[in-house]
Amino acid sequence: LEISPFIQSLPKIEIHVHIEGTLRPAIRWALAQRNRIPVVTKGVTYHTYEELLESYKVTYNHRPEQGGRKDVPTFLEAYFAGCDVLRTEDDFYDMSMDYLKRCSEMNVRWAEPFFDIQAHTRRGIPFEHVLNGYLRAQQDGEKEYGVKSKWIFCFLRDEPVEEGAKAYEQALPWADTPTGKGLFHAVGLASNAFKRPPVLFKQCFERAKQDGLHITTHCDFGQTDTHEHIRQAIFDIGIERIDHGLDALDDDKLIQGLVDKNIGLTLCPHAYHRRTKTEVLFPKLRQLLDRGVKFCINSDDPVYMHDVWVDGNMEKAYHYGGLTKGEMVGLVRNAVEMCWADQSVKDSIL
Ligand code: ADE
Ligand code: ZN
Repeated sequence: LEISPFIQSLPKIEIHVHIEGTLRPAIRWALAQRNRIPVVTKGVTYHTYEELLESYKVTYNHRPEQGGRKDVPTFLEAYFAGCDVLRTEDDFYDMSMDYLKRCSEMNVRWAEPFFDIQAHTRRGIPFEHVLNGYLRAQQDGEKEYGVKSKWIFCFLRDEPVEEGAKAYEQALPWADTPTGKGLFHAVGLASNAFKRPPVLFKQCFERAKQDGLHITTHCDFGQTDTHEHIRQAIFDIGIERIDHGLDALDDDKLIQGLVDKNIGLTLCPHAYHRRTKTEVLFPKLRQLLDRGVKFCINSDDPVYMHDVWVDGNMEKAYHYGGLTKGEMVGLVRNAVEMCWADQSVKDSIL
């Protein structure tokens, strides 16, 4: 789907994107050369850039316990394999600057990228390399590309809660607190949600709130127990936004909770469209509009999702969802309301 002049011209906000999911194969290849390491995904080594590029055209597998093929990587296997080339502060900086540059090309004015610090510390990368790389990109991205950002610390929900809590303590000096460096202003929950409900991390969320940070959680679309995860997020944790959360449409109580508490969904249409028929998926956007649920459009992991970025995701909502231009502007307005930028930044966008 080509990006239409209308979608290109819309000012944009992206609040659901994993920075590690923006690591383009060209950058991955260059960093591997710079660090003198091989490029490997699930036991397969890529010897040329062309082979690597080709490997990104797949639609990743489901987990084997859900009937996936063992020889095709799952999405998360590919995503974490990509991280292996990120070793130095400059690597994290270069990946992030590439994303923020891409933002400026797409007319994205404000971004709230997630980062998975545990994906790096568990490989032995010092947390300072990661956080200082992101911090420098946050500053230079605004200076060089005019894209402002505040980032979101993500707990890896399939790792022990104590590990997440420890990573949070290490990262706290980089948070947007009165004494912090201002990199991240929120915490989230990502990675494999299988048997890892949000309530397990209730204390981590409480702690972040006490530190004055915002809270959000992934409730993936069409996975096990998502309805219960959404219920917990709304009623047990008091979450401010939900990442995905589209399964709420199956349960009136969840929809009522979202509306009553003014909780918005950060949707990523292409992530679902990879696995869901057009005629099943896109009417759901209309249903959300009809039922008064706030949502906005984002990319999630563009590099591992056929190179469809936030502009492509908006184009899909516009084209397949049959939304009017006015409704598309309304979605940008939703993103302005849902994001955690200062009012002065919000006022400058729409
Ligand atoms: N972490 C990064 N991308 C993710 C996704 N799409 N789902 C769950 N966890 C993730
Ligand atoms: Zn996500």
